[in-house]
Amino acid sequence: MKITKPILKQSVLGGLVVLSLISIVFFSFTQNKDKATEEDIKAALKEAYDKFKTLKGGKNADYIPYLAKVDSTFYGIVIVTADGKVYPMGETKYEFGIESISKVFTLAQALQERGGKVVMDSIGVNATGLPFNSVQAIEIQGQQPQNPLVNAGAIATVSLLEPKNNQEAKWAKVQKNFNRFAGRDLKVIDELYKSEAATDQHNEAIALLLKSYNRLFDKPAIAIDVYTKQCSFGVNAKDLAVMAATLANNGVNPLTKEKVVDPKHIPQILAVMSTAGLYETTGEWMFKVGLPSKSGVGGGIISVVPGQMGIAVFAPPLDKAGNSVKAQKTIEFLADKLKLNVFTARN
Ligand code: DON
Repeated sequence: MKITKPILKQSVLGGLVVLSLISIVFFSFTQNKDKATEEDIKAALKEAYDKFKTLKGGKNADYIPYLAKVDSTFYGIVIVTADGKVYPMGETKYEFGIESISKVFTLAQALQERGGKVVMDSIGVNATGLPFNSVQAIEIQGQQPQNPLVNAGAIATVSLLEPKNNQEAKWAKVQKNFNRFAGRDLKVIDELYKSEAATDQHNEAIALLLKSYNRLFDKPAIAIDVYTKQCSFGVNAKDLAVMAATLANNGVNPLTKEKVVDPKHIPQILAVMSTAGLYETTGEWMFKVGLPSKSGVGGGIISVVPGQMGIAVFAPPLDKAGNSVKAQKTIEFLADKLKLNVFTARN
């Protein structure tokens, strides 16, 4: 049989269509196989909320008087996916102190402004294995703060930011960076800021100690004030989930689509969170849960699932290391249910 040109063309085209269909089906199968679906996420959120809503244990932070007064029964969970879907559960509108979770976002700003080498050399990226406000850690490790997520390292990170010797201009830049991560204008909780500023002698001592070792790169009073203010930002659980999702989405806010930080810094930020995000219990956390995370004494914890989602949980009572008890249980449960552990091979 003689194959005419039009028949040949038709068969080639037909073959190409079949091939493309096969590859689309294969591609979507391999891509989605491990990704949590909308139904999976909603069901897991509800299950977690019902399971842990009445969980007892832990105690509100009280070394900052404002935090002791926050209703310890508040409980909210929000997941924001890298493609911008928002899944709320429980108390997701109440604005609480971001506290140490803020350290992640100033670290992002420092990396963006000064680069990874400067951050690593001048602050460090190793675990201290000691409490978040340890002075001993500075002395043990060659008078270096050790990492940007403990108080010493976070105060030093603020001091690295430009400009120097200009508190107002420095604060304006920090505020802008937080707003871009959250996708809205965040406000400092004035009562919390005053409460912290009146009781932060320990942090002031840390700042002076760092200055004496040439490990603080701005005036101590400026570094302390900007640090205390950033810790006093009021956020709700949704804000935190959006901020975490911006890290999960390679530095682009999934709601506003704004590029907030260069993608090359995301693995550096997540590495530091995996090393020190929950302070001296970070090893146990990574062993059990396997998600780069950060806690704050306001009761929040964020976790980042690269390429997939940001998770935020708010529940004020804390364990001895300063990490929310209920938030840890919730994220551990969600990570297991939705198979989120970053160390699990996906193929
Ligand atoms: O500097 C402090 O002690 C507080 N503003 C923040 C500490 C904190 O959140 C520790 N995290 N769990």
